[in-house]
Amino acid sequence: MKNNTVNHNTWQSATRVVRAGLPEKAPGTPYLPGPVFAAPFHAPGDPATSPFTYGRFDNPTWAAYERALGELEGGTALLFPSGMAASAAVLSTLLPAGSTLIMPTESYYTTRVLATQEFSGAFVAAHGVKVVQAPTTGTALRDAIRAHAAAGVAMVWLESPTNPGLDVCDIAALCEEAHAAGAIVVVDNTTATPLLQQPLALGADVCVVSDTKAMTGHADLVLGHVAVRDAAHAEVLRVWRTRLGVIPGPMEAWLAHRSLGTLHVRMAQQNRNALAVATMLQAHSRVTDVRYPGLPSDPSHEIASRQMQGFGGVVSFTLPSAAAVERFFAASALVYEATSFGGLHTSAERRARWGGDIVAEGFVRMSLGLEDTNDLLADIAAALEAI
Ligand SMILES: Cc1ncc(COP(=O)(O)O)c(C=O)c1O
Repeated sequence: MKNNTVNHNTWQSATRVVRAGLPEKAPGTPYLPGPVFAAPFHAPGDPATSPFTYGRFDNPTWAAYERALGELEGGTALLFPSGMAASAAVLSTLLPAGSTLIMPTESYYTTRVLATQEFSGAFVAAHGVKVVQAPTTGTALRDAIRAHAAAGVAMVWLESPTNPGLDVCDIAALCEEAHAAGAIVVVDNTTATPLLQQPLALGADVCVVSDTKAMTGHADLVLGHVAVRDAAHAEVLRVWRTRLGVIPGPMEAWLAHRSLGTLHVRMAQQNRNALAVATMLQAHSRVTDVRYPGLPSDPSHEIASRQMQGFGGVVSFTLPSAAAVERFFAASALVYEATSFGGLHTSAERRARWGGDIVAEGFVRMSLGLEDTNDLLADIAAALEAI
C-alpha cells in the first residue's frame, strides 16, 4: 500500500497541507481519525513495546497533528497547549542559566514579558538570563549579535513579520550571524505560518508558532507548537513537556488537524483581502502609517518577497486618535473588535489599550478574514467616514 504519510517532494504546498499527517489508506477507516480520549492505554509488560502508555506522555491525536506539522515545517514538531507554552518550553530548555538572549523590541508583548520578567527577573532567579533587545528593522539585531558575540550569546529570538508592527527581518542573514556567534536561532512564525514561511529551511534551529491564530483559523481553540531540526532539542523539549505536564488536549489537537486542511485556501483569501484593504487604507486621507508586507511600497516588501510565499492577513495602520478608533469600530458592521488574529472573521483592535507595545494611541492591528473583498472594502470605507 502506498505510504501517504510521507511528505511527497513533488507536491505543492496546497497538496501537502490537505494531506499532512494523514494515516495510510486502509479500507473502512476515516481519512482523519477522531480524537482519542485516554489517560492510560493498554500497555502490558515492557512499556517500550506499547506505542502509547499514558496520556501525559503521548497521544495518537497529538502524534498525527505533530506529524503534519513536522512535514510542513521540515523538522520534528511538538505540540503545546498554547503558543506561550511553546515559547516557555523553548526558553526553559534551550537557554542556559546565566546566558544572553537577544530578542526584538517589538515582538509579541507577552514573549518579551516572559523573557525579561520570568527568565531574567526574580521569579526564576536560577535562570538569571541577560536579555538584550533591539529593533527588528535595519541592522540593530545584527549589531546586537556582533556586540555581544565575544561575551557569548546563547540564543537569538526573531519574530517575522512582527506582531503588531509587521516588521520583517532577513532570517537567513541573521541565522548566519547568530551561528557565527555560537547562538541558536528561534523564529516565532505565528503571523506567517509554515505555509508562507519555513524558518528551519532558512537556517533557524527552532520555530515556535501559536496555532491559536491562522494555523487553525476558526477562533475556537488555543494551541501552540515548536519545530526543531536537531533530535537532541526535540528530546529535551519532549522530556520537559512530559515532566511539567504542559500538554495539549486531544480535542484541540484534532480540531487543529481538521482545520489545517484548509490553511491554503484561508490564507489565499486573507492575503487577497489584506492587500485590498491595505491598498485602500493607504489612499485614505485620515489613515497614516499603513503597514502590510504585501504592499510594494512597504519597507518590509523586498525581504518578505524573498523569504515568504505570501504576506499573510494582518495589516496595521494608525487613525488620528483613540476616540477615532472607537468611532471606527462603532460604525463598522463587519470588523469585530477583538484581540488575536488569523481567523476567518475580520477583526481588529487598538493595541495601545493593552499597554506594552510601542505604538500610537490610534494604532490599529487588523486581521482580515474570509469575507467577500468588496463587502469588506465598502464596510471599512464607510466606518472610516465616521471617524
Ligand atoms: C506572535 C505571537 N506569538 C505567540 C503568541 C502566543 O500565543 P497563544 O496566545 O496561543 O499563547 C501570540 C499571541 O497573540 C503571538 O501573536
